[in-house]
Amino acid sequence: MTSVTGPLPGPRSKELFTRWARVEAQCAGYQARVAWDHASGVVVADVDGNTFIDWTSGVLVTNVGHSHPDLVKAVQVAAAKLLNNYECLHPWRVIAAEKLTSVLPPHLDKCFFLTTGSEVVEGAIRIMKRKTGKFEIISFYGGFHGRTSAAAGAGGLPGPKKGYGPTLPGSIRVPFPNCYRCPFHAEPTTCDMLCLDYLEDAVRATSTGSLAGLIVEPYQGAAGFIFPPEGWLKRLEQWLRGRGLLFTLDEVQSSFGRTGKFWAMEWEGLAPDLVSIGKGIGSGVPASAIAARGEVIGTLGAGEMSSTMGGNPLACAAVIAVIEIMQREHLEENALRIGKLMKSRLLEMQEKSPYVGEVRGRGLVMGVELVKDKKTKEPAPDLTRRLIDLAAENGLLIGSVGTFGNVIRVAPPLVISAAEAHESLDIFAKALSLL
Ligand SMILES: Cc1ncc(COP(=O)(O)O)c(C=O)c1O
Repeated sequence: MTSVTGPLPGPRSKELFTRWARVEAQCAGYQARVAWDHASGVVVADVDGNTFIDWTSGVLVTNVGHSHPDLVKAVQVAAAKLLNNYECLHPWRVIAAEKLTSVLPPHLDKCFFLTTGSEVVEGAIRIMKRKTGKFEIISFYGGFHGRTSAAAGAGGLPGPKKGYGPTLPGSIRVPFPNCYRCPFHAEPTTCDMLCLDYLEDAVRATSTGSLAGLIVEPYQGAAGFIFPPEGWLKRLEQWLRGRGLLFTLDEVQSSFGRTGKFWAMEWEGLAPDLVSIGKGIGSGVPASAIAARGEVIGTLGAGEMSSTMGGNPLACAAVIAVIEIMQREHLEENALRIGKLMKSRLLEMQEKSPYVGEVRGRGLVMGVELVKDKKTKEPAPDLTRRLIDLAAENGLLIGSVGTFGNVIRVAPPLVISAAEAHESLDIFAKALSLL
């Protein structure tokens, strides 16, 4: 199915890369050297006619598959009818909100549409402060919530804050349970989640008594697809409830079936007060939303939240189409089934390869962490970049994440079939063997 006929980048890609470097700031991360032309389902074609299986989904965006015909049609119909009317009402906005709240847990009975993930995180932080009248927000080392001011401030990675000066006061950041690289050098089987005790200590030592709430990802995305041990999120939620703090779950990348359930919060039956939603909700069309308990989001009065593009007809038509496709095609079930198949083969590769330190994840979001040495766990970002190139040369598009840039993202569109999964895993195994 995939076909790469010459060295990469091909001649047309090369020409585009050269022109691009002349006119746009070159601040994107490391990607395979191909210029995309079109894509369908899980297959991407570049401008030179090469085809690849895609394990990136953009960046966990195209959950219903690239350019799903029903999504394309819905967007075309909306575009021909009404492109923007700011806050004025249109039917798509009402239907999109009805659909979204119908797939959310019942306590999250209200939503509000914006455009990007960072924007909904900003909004959620604002609501937590506004509702409580307090300003301190707890967040986690390694967290990524976006690149705007409050979102970057709540994040626990230095990149988005570099050269920016002091971030928002009132951020209390604590270690996330990264069991592969435990900051306390503890063992997950015996530690009894020591990191939760540390959270208590950190708050006691640093809070001025103005705690509003907490923001956390169900698994850390940008830090390297780090999944907390089972039960940790539930205990964290109980800790918050015991103190009357608000709980924002950042599901910008973990929702819309990615982990094998519609929402990642379903795995532990969490009941956050606010949920930030992005990426897969528009499956390629810029859209995002805050979901919240009505009583919490109701703290905002008339004129207190809006955005030029938020809830525009095109975005809302996309949200409606995406939810309908997800339900009709049972995509979270497919993510679970194919995810299991892929994970078991990736674990076999971990056994064989001297460089795969850990394979982790669930559904169709898995991280393959590359190390120079399995004992020392020294990160291998150079090998990771080499693997991205080798995979592309053999017909597979992968990307990397991670605090050390050494984790391969395994996150194909949720429509991937078993045959496509096996074909792409064969390519990945071959690329690994060439390192
Ligand atoms: C968990 C999480 N929150 C927020 C964001 C920011 O989203 P955006 O890039 O759409 O602003 C991201 C993006 O990767 C994310 O993964």
